[in-house]
Amino acid sequence: MSKQFDVVVIGGGPGGYIAAIRAAQLGFQVACIDEWKNAAGGPAPGGTCTNVGCIPSKALLQSSEHFDHANHHFAEHGISASGVTMDIAKMLARKDMVVKQNNDGILYLFKKNKVTFFHGRGSFVGQAEGGYTVHVAGKTEEDITAKHVIIATGSNARALPGTPFDEVNVLSNDGALRLASVPKKLVLIGSGVIGLEMGSVWRRLGADVTILEGLPTFLGAVDEQIAKEAKKAFDKQGLKIELGVKVGEIVNGKKGVTVNYTNAKGEAVVLAADKLVISIGRVANTIGLNTEAVGLQLDERGAVVVDADCRTKLPGVWAIGDVVRGPMLAHKAEEEGVAVAERIAGQHGHVNFNTIPWVIYTSPEIAWVGRTEQQLKADGVAYKAGTFPFLANGRARALGDTTGMVKMLADAKTDEILGVHIVGPSASELIAEAVVAMEFRASAEDIARICHAHPSLSEATKEAALAVDKRTLNF
Ligand code: FAD
Ligand code: NAI
Repeated sequence: MSKQFDVVVIGGGPGGYIAAIRAAQLGFQVACIDEWKNAAGGPAPGGTCTNVGCIPSKALLQSSEHFDHANHHFAEHGISASGVTMDIAKMLARKDMVVKQNNDGILYLFKKNKVTFFHGRGSFVGQAEGGYTVHVAGKTEEDITAKHVIIATGSNARALPGTPFDEVNVLSNDGALRLASVPKKLVLIGSGVIGLEMGSVWRRLGADVTILEGLPTFLGAVDEQIAKEAKKAFDKQGLKIELGVKVGEIVNGKKGVTVNYTNAKGEAVVLAADKLVISIGRVANTIGLNTEAVGLQLDERGAVVVDADCRTKLPGVWAIGDVVRGPMLAHKAEEEGVAVAERIAGQHGHVNFNTIPWVIYTSPEIAWVGRTEQQLKADGVAYKAGTFPFLANGRARALGDTTGMVKMLADAKTDEILGVHIVGPSASELIAEAVVAMEFRASAEDIARICHAHPSLSEATKEAALAVDKRTLNF
């Protein structure tokens, strides 16, 4: 007799583990299956995000930023720090410890919420009476059944055709997060989120970094004015970003990697690198799920086909996070997990796709929510724009970080906020106010009339709101 659950979640990343906890809170008997292994072969729930994504990348961004500050910014404060060195092994050990704290935290949360955790690979066996049978292949093998199955199997790094990842010279996000020493020359292909974050880490630590981007525009999804400002800052830092390139043959040799490409001017270039990171997007992961056993529909890119509510065509089978359409973000996966658990319970779970924030954790940080100026133009929406530079913000001056601005876009007639775009210090935190405002369908005037603490970076958001009405007070 196989173990019977109400809900089985396959995948314990931010989508899956949060779905499992929410379903358990709602009174269901829940199992979560995750196959990620730590270095010792033990369970490491948390998925890409915890193990080789959000968390370790932010740990390295923090360490490398401290190093950069010690080398380049302490002196402004009167602090002399000569001979600053970086112990890469120690930095990586700290990152691994932060990852482990998060893995252990999730295992604790499973216990606390009475979620049964299975360490192993989950795959469909077939339909069972009133539900589905899922096989778990871990240290032991067993079948479990449930009325509802939530697929949360995430995504994997996309490889360039003909250039497989060896994680020695040709690296995915995984290898890029555990380089044992600083490469002299690092090339990254793709100047998206990973290219910029990982490029920043290793540049700050001393690598000569070049990022090759296929598109002619830099950060095409970002508001143009914000992307331009960010590019200026990255250029100043020495992060070399080449746009409009066509990558050709890549030779992975004993001493490193050679990348042949055609630059935007049509010239053939040969670039030798110690290490190459490929960061050209990610692909949905359904490997080993045995979707054929139940006839689960996948799209042409391998993603599980779902409706707006994360329902697949199979009754009782749901899919969330990176394995389905939409932005590949941890908080998007989490929101879908909560919403699906609530729908299973007959509630009205909801995800507002218009207010999902994006953050790129470079320095300066880039964060946005809602539509960009170019999108509003394309949609034919009449809008007003207000910007406020951190250069005119007292707290930013005190911090010594006055790069960038807050930009607010509001409907020309109703004044409703349609988008907020930030490049600058703590943009990742500042964006939360904009998300709340947009969820409550606030107007720019609402933000302009709210008392913001002084001195704080958040005053720049208030001033950007005032700028929408052309009446900034400090600029
Ligand atoms: P995943 O996190 O990929 O989890 C899926 C889990 O399912 C994995 O543990 C996998 O082992 C397991 N699994 C797969 N198949 C099976 C199976 N058959 N049986 C059992 N288990 C299985 N997003 C942000 O929002 N902010 C960030 O700062 C951020 N930084 C990132 C940095 C990097 C370098 C990368 C690569 C990604 C980053 N992301 C970030 C994206 C984020 O990691 C993903 O959007 C998020 O992890 C998706 O969550 P998920 O639960 O859908 O899938
Ligand atoms: P991405 O989609 O952000 O960027 C990929 C870039 O590679 C694009 O600019 C694209 O034009 C370019 N590209 C694609 N093919 C190319 C080719 N053949 N040659 C040259 N350039 C090419 O993908 P990335 O950076 O790999 O990250 C994957 C996803 O992980 C992100 O989309 C995001 O969802 C998530 N992520 C989120 C983070 C965050 O929220 N801070 C951090 C890191 C990743």
